[in-house]
Amino acid sequence: METREQWSNRAGFLFAAVGSAIGLGNIWRYPYIAYENGGGAFLVPYFIALLTAGIPILLLEYSLGHRYRGSAPQVFRKISKKWEWLGWWQSFVAFVIVSFYMVIIGWSLNYSYYSIGTQWGEDTEAFFFEKFLGLSGSFWEMGGLQWKVLLPVCLVWLITFIVMHMGVRKGIERVSRILMPILILMMVVITIRAVTLPGAGEGLNVLLTPDFSSLTEPGVWVAAYGQVFFSLSIGFAIMMTYASYLPEKSDLSNSGLIAAFANSGFEFLAALGVFGALGFLAASQGVDVNSVVNAGVGLAFVVFPQIINQFPGLNSLFGVLFFGLLLFAGFTSAISILEPVIASVKEKFNLSRRAAVNWVCGLAFLLSLLYTTHGGLRYLDTVDHFINQYGVALAGLVEVVLIAWFIRKLSEMRTHINEISDIRIGNWWNLCLMVITPVMVIVMTGFSLFQEWLKPYEDYPLNGLALLGWGSVVLTLMVAFVFQRLGWKQTQVQGGEKA
Ligand code: ALA
Repeated sequence: METREQWSNRAGFLFAAVGSAIGLGNIWRYPYIAYENGGGAFLVPYFIALLTAGIPILLLEYSLGHRYRGSAPQVFRKISKKWEWLGWWQSFVAFVIVSFYMVIIGWSLNYSYYSIGTQWGEDTEAFFFEKFLGLSGSFWEMGGLQWKVLLPVCLVWLITFIVMHMGVRKGIERVSRILMPILILMMVVITIRAVTLPGAGEGLNVLLTPDFSSLTEPGVWVAAYGQVFFSLSIGFAIMMTYASYLPEKSDLSNSGLIAAFANSGFEFLAALGVFGALGFLAASQGVDVNSVVNAGVGLAFVVFPQIINQFPGLNSLFGVLFFGLLLFAGFTSAISILEPVIASVKEKFNLSRRAAVNWVCGLAFLLSLLYTTHGGLRYLDTVDHFINQYGVALAGLVEVVLIAWFIRKLSEMRTHINEISDIRIGNWWNLCLMVITPVMVIVMTGFSLFQEWLKPYEDYPLNGLALLGWGSVVLTLMVAFVFQRLGWKQTQVQGGEKA
């Protein structure tokens, strides 16, 4: 049996944890979510969500991984044999997420190249959807593979494959240590440039002017909790696995707070940069800022190329910087989403790291191919929506309810954190996890289901939503139960505890 890998020190863990949190979610998701949900006033639900659910769940996942020293299935199995499936569910949700996340990183790689000489031309919308993605006419028209998308995706997978083979310390930690400072520097340069562009002030006004009436809308609160879950990488097995590689005496609460606030700081910086740039675009076109904002992939891949076109100088350089930022931020998150799956398979089947990496990366790569077809964008959009709204949120909910209500281990986990950490966690933590988080996630899920019922997501065909959307959520759950039934290929569980 290979010995359990470890980070070289706490800084190594922090680089990796912050690298996991800061991802595509911070750069293009946060700015438009904040804009759509009350602008400046969104900070109120966002901070409440961060303090009542984000940080408490993050600390819970750190403590579980650190105390039970294992990947998610291992952790839940050690808690109770009946619950191993929950760890598998979270791991399979991560597997599905990484399969499409890698494709967006592939797009970013292409767009870093297209930035040189602004190869997308004037009509950036036609370029993205028609020339680059070669998007088919309808949902079920899958078409063949789009090689312009396939090639960068293969390249990104190859690099990821090599990094995952290098292991936790030499691969993930080293990559995070190198890329995170570069990433922060790039973000600072871009933001300073964006907020000093002519017209930027108007964009910032739109982002920061609070619309306090929005606080009475349940949708705004749902958006805040959803954003915090995805952005902190909680609910899909990552933080448990990462914390399991920490040395025995490691400060957990301090690390959690640093990771959470670094992530939020980056998110605000990105929002200032994005809205400064949108203000500039609106001013240069003589239109209102609201008319240039675009949600989802369009913001990064249609609107940003337009902004780069209008830049007063160094257009190519700023294009490469922006898409390079997406590429690096996405990459350090993608490796973190793969690691829990690799660790789970490695432990259960007693495989070498090499074999586990080959299996997991090989299968996830095959799944990625679906999103590189001509219909790929719609499949990616559907799977992303359902697996995040229901997979991540529900797997997180079951985890919290299990620990807080069924096996009542919250106080034990809190003692574990307090014994090894400088900042002591108080009763507020139990209250958040026992009451506030479950109530909010249930309301959030109920609200999303109601929206689903009112109108099919993006007006996609119902059979498509059922097969790919609900199908991915249900399939991850079913396979999780199957995996629970398979036997463990080892008698001694790593980390000293008996299985
Ligand atoms: N936390 C990662 C992101 O924000 C998954 O993209």
